[in-house]
Amino acid sequence: MPRNRSNRTVLGTAILLSVALVAAACGGARSGGGGGEDGSYTIKFSHVVTADTPKGQAAEKFKELVEKNCGDQVTVEVYPNSELYGDEDEMQALQSGAVQMLAPASAKFTTIAPQLQVLDLPFLFDSVEDIPEVASPDTAVGQAIYENDALAKRGIKVLGLWDNGLKQLSSNQPMEKPADLKGLRFRIQPSDVLRSQFSQWNAETTPMAFAEVYNALQQGVIDGQENPYSNIESQNMHTVQKHITESNHGYIGYVHTINNEFYQSLPPELQECVTNASDKAAAFNREIAADLNEEAKQAIRDEGSTQITELSDEQRRVFKDAVVPRVWQQYADVIGQDLVNELLKNQR
Ligand code: LMR
Repeated sequence: MPRNRSNRTVLGTAILLSVALVAAACGGARSGGGGGEDGSYTIKFSHVVTADTPKGQAAEKFKELVEKNCGDQVTVEVYPNSELYGDEDEMQALQSGAVQMLAPASAKFTTIAPQLQVLDLPFLFDSVEDIPEVASPDTAVGQAIYENDALAKRGIKVLGLWDNGLKQLSSNQPMEKPADLKGLRFRIQPSDVLRSQFSQWNAETTPMAFAEVYNALQQGVIDGQENPYSNIESQNMHTVQKHITESNHGYIGYVHTINNEFYQSLPPELQECVTNASDKAAAFNREIAADLNEEAKQAIRDEGSTQITELSDEQRRVFKDAVVPRVWQQYADVIGQDLVNELLKNQR
């Protein structure tokens, strides 16, 4: 029995509950939202960045591939830039089936699957070339994410790992050493690892949804933030920040997820087709991400109102030594001591 959304506002909770029970008893109900009466399926894919970023373009590629290869039965609707759901409500929307697909940054899973903070560990990568070796489906980190029990229990299935790239620091003052951050308030994603990272640099933090960052910077509610160039430029954050320090100190990686009930409701050939489209979109994302960040960096330079400071290896080392291995060890019980030990072996 398909869901009738318009009834939701009219019917009381008790009636909705009995409708759900009857649907379950019928055994034919499509769950996770997205299933139509006529055997058609709609994947609503919500995300928080603009369509021209590494995630935005990969989402469009996924839509293109599904609609080209999976027949007429499946439609993908992509909602970028927090226009449908934002950081504050998208996880709930995925679990309830209000949307079927998301690709949030790892930090956004902190409350429901804290182990995913592994991707937030500061200085996990020294350069973008190092990313695939660590954050791919067949690595120890990838396996920990694909096989994450907490996600499975919430009915969230992992389809892929996408990149944005490495984070830079922005604020209105030069930041060449951790001491320069003292007293500044940085917006962070809701991750304990990120709070600890800034706290080791003696900076203050405020967790905040991505869509609110530009206004908060403009109004001086926060002094700075951390993101890859593509996110900074596409949200115009640089227009309200005089300085960017190219620190490459952390990673923004995305976990491409689907509501598992919805996925299981697809016929096997459509499941395979969606999975293939997801794999190809992931490969496409990895091909374009670094270039898009370089282009965004150049666009910020060309605008000429933000000073970009590239840290020397020695300067970067001072930031790194303040947080590695200290912050990594601090969260070893959440991330898994074995995984942390394994990752520490690769540190230079
Ligand atoms: C952020 O909140 O800073 C990023 O996770 C946004 C994104 O999805 O890239």
